Amino acid sequence: MPTNWSPESWRALPIKQMPTYPDGEKLAAMEAKLRLYPPLVFAGEARRLKASLAEVAEGRAFVLQGGDCAESFQDFTGNIIRDSFRVLLQMAVVLTFGAGVPVVKMGRMAGQFAKPRSSDTETIGGETLPSYRGDIINGPGFDAASRIPDPARMETGYFQSAGSLNLLRAFATGGYSDLHEVHRWNLEFAARSPLAARYQDLASRIDETLAFMAACGMTSTSTPQIRETDFYTSHEALLLPYEQALTRVDSTSGDWYACSAHFLWIGDRTRQPDHAHVEFLRGVKNPLGLKVGPTTSVDDLLRLIDTLNPANEAGRMTLISRMGADKVETLLAPLVRAVKRAGKKVVWLCDPMHGNTISTANKTKTRSFDAILGEVSGFFNVHAAEGTWAGGVHVEMTGREVTECIGGAHQLSEADLADRYETFCDPRLNAEQSLELAFLVSEELKRRRDFTPLAAAAQ
Ligand code: PEP
Ligand code: CO
Repeated sequence: MPTNWSPESWRALPIKQMPTYPDGEKLAAMEAKLRLYPPLVFAGEARRLKASLAEVAEGRAFVLQGGDCAESFQDFTGNIIRDSFRVLLQMAVVLTFGAGVPVVKMGRMAGQFAKPRSSDTETIGGETLPSYRGDIINGPGFDAASRIPDPARMETGYFQSAGSLNLLRAFATGGYSDLHEVHRWNLEFAARSPLAARYQDLASRIDETLAFMAACGMTSTSTPQIRETDFYTSHEALLLPYEQALTRVDSTSGDWYACSAHFLWIGDRTRQPDHAHVEFLRGVKNPLGLKVGPTTSVDDLLRLIDTLNPANEAGRMTLISRMGADKVETLLAPLVRAVKRAGKKVVWLCDPMHGNTISTANKTKTRSFDAILGEVSGFFNVHAAEGTWAGGVHVEMTGREVTECIGGAHQLSEADLADRYETFCDPRLNAEQSLELAFLVSEELKRRRDFTPLAAAAQ
């Protein structure tokens, strides 16, 4: 165990983004209840994910992390979970088959319920109320009662996470993810989409490859990797009373693990090196994410890496860059260089969403698909220039046909946003935009692969 750490040592430190619960006793009673509930994930799974992320840190695999900005209690249905899972699978297949790299799949799912806010209050029509902080804390409705933080919501969050995780595990290992089903994952939208032919073509090539492999004796029965996949859950570790209540000692290793999800990350607003969120996460053994934004300095970043990963273990630290399309090349390069020079083993991911949120004239939050692509390609450029591995993407997306981000193959416009704007927080890529992004990233990866020094020497 790290020195002077306990699951509650964070409580002695300053904390940002902590809701004020009006009833302390009710909160303590809920924490006590959750402490007795079964863990949602098993430490061995988190270790397995860490080992896969270590492969990414070494430049041998790629990460796809995606899902809602904020999951909502109201959207807890099998179809919604299936649709997001299916698009993530399709994206992963495009990346794996198209670019020839193994893809580590993580959902912003089964627990992504707590949101940091830039303002503690929200004002509409002259009335000011506490901000909505995610369904695990308070309600989205603009009325005083909804906005009161309620500990009972943690229990709902726990049970919904358990339900989502159960379905995700079933999809990952119960036959749904079998590569022989790749044609059937095609979404309804695809028939009308310019991407349909492209996806069908890829699916047909996979079918051919599977037939060839079967002829060589590699079938779903002999090769489980064809039949099932690993799918991990992740969320921002924001609500520390909840996270602490689900922290357990692993009986195999004697180490502490946060058992609310496999992978937890620290948000851009709660990454102060001497504050509570960093303190809590340094003591659990899960693989960790850290958002890296425009205000992250080289010194802070190196200090945070040392605090969170003192043994420099590969797979432990994932740095999720979210700079903004116009700033990524200038701001990210010095950080990547400093981390490399210091010999730190990290995974670098690109979050092309959070630095590219804009407001339309009528104050709808949106993101342009072009800016999202721009940030991804800037991220790839920085890594190419620094000789480091662009390890993956972290996106806010849904399997539904929402209209929240503008642009993409169907050229959604500002006027289209009103059609199906369903997010409870930030604008997400819809199914088609997500798939389009995967094709573009896969081309980028292919290009890099073709230009590695080895390939160049062989020419
Ligand atoms: C998020 O990922 O939902 C988020 C709030 O991001 P960031 O902390 O980078 O702003
Ligand atoms: Co968001």
